[in-house]
Amino acid sequence: MSLGGKHIILGVTGGIAAYKSAELVRLLKKSGAEVQVLMTSDAARFITPLTLGTLSEREILSEIFPENESGSWTKHVNLGLWADLFVIAPATAQTIAKLAHGMSDSMLTATALAARCPLLVCPAMDHDMFIHPATQRNLEILESYGYRIMAPEHGELASGLIGHGRLPDPASIVSRISRELAGVEKNGPLAGRTVLVTAGPTREPIDPVRFISNHSSGRMGFAVAEVAADRGAKTILVTGPTRLETPKGIERIDVTTAGEMFAAVDQHRNADIVVMTAAVADYTPAEPADHKLKKSEEQVHLRLKRTTDILQELGKSRRSGQVLVGFALETRDGLANARVKLKSKNLDLIVLNNPLDEGAAFGHETNRVTLLYRNGTEEALGKMSKLDVGRVILQRVETMMVAEATPSE
Ligand code: CTP
Repeated sequence: MSLGGKHIILGVTGGIAAYKSAELVRLLKKSGAEVQVLMTSDAARFITPLTLGTLSEREILSEIFPENESGSWTKHVNLGLWADLFVIAPATAQTIAKLAHGMSDSMLTATALAARCPLLVCPAMDHDMFIHPATQRNLEILESYGYRIMAPEHGELASGLIGHGRLPDPASIVSRISRELAGVEKNGPLAGRTVLVTAGPTREPIDPVRFISNHSSGRMGFAVAEVAADRGAKTILVTGPTRLETPKGIERIDVTTAGEMFAAVDQHRNADIVVMTAAVADYTPAEPADHKLKKSEEQVHLRLKRTTDILQELGKSRRSGQVLVGFALETRDGLANARVKLKSKNLDLIVLNNPLDEGAAFGHETNRVTLLYRNGTEEALGKMSKLDVGRVILQRVETMMVAEATPSE
């Protein structure tokens, strides 16, 4: 991937993940970009300006009022004009809060305020700080300014806790940067729209070595996401465990359980279009064991509790103009059951499929579906590739959005 001739500002703030910025600078330079690093003074506690200055081959800027310098007052404005893209990685809760409220107390925040280029913010912090309503609200504010947010990953954090908040690896950030730069020029029927797709099965742990799951391969969801990105949408794919490769131009979030899938979807619940293809477990073991269960001659009873119906939750509080698409996996009374799901989950469209139908089995490249719309019409599609099913679904959704936006006589 080439970023030849592109001007990138990299903002580094004071979190433990700042150490990853050295690798990020190296990869950006390697792909041909010119990189100007702006560090907050706290960032310098985690990584030295000398390291980043040497790698970027440019002076590191930090203070808005440099001590030993004169005649450089408009540097933040000039930098904002120079850059093709401004990425902040890692972005701490503190810097996110400052940006949300227009504060400009460092070279980094002042330049962000002055910048005319797209801004990409990569939050990284402790899980509880990330999910705090203040941080979430601030991120929503940034999104409303048009800033792009690259979701942190789920995993082990510096605190030793497991949760959301880990900075994605530098290679993923570079690929997101190049997609953002491509997206600036990209057109398509879904340009400027955000599409959230879920895919795959979930796994519900019984003990550390066993789980309850299903046969979903994730192919249908990956196909919808690929089509959405091709049609110009910013596409977020939340997926359970699969062996599939991420299609180009997609932000992928890996999850395991239904609970994790709900949390990830909830982060992006404001998407313009949501397509839930995932085969989410309806039940999860009520008390997963900490240790591997040993066998005995006794019968074992596994107590299960309900998971959240993610789609139903989204249907309860949808924002106006949002389109919600569900899938109905049925092996008998398909149409009748799908009609009930369409209504009870408050959807615009439900895609009925039966894994027992010829050409529609789990893991196949093809599917055979019927589309059921909110207005009562139904459309049976013949056997076709999953990519084509994805195309038809998104074309129908685009038509609905145009109809909704056109004032009636
Ligand atoms: N779904 C969901 N959360 C769940 C279960 C299902 O969001 N906990 C979504 C699926 O992604 C799909 C739709 O709801 O888009 C229908 O899923 P399906 O498995 O067909 O039906 P259920 O609602 O689970 O009902 P049942 O299993 O009784 O058929």
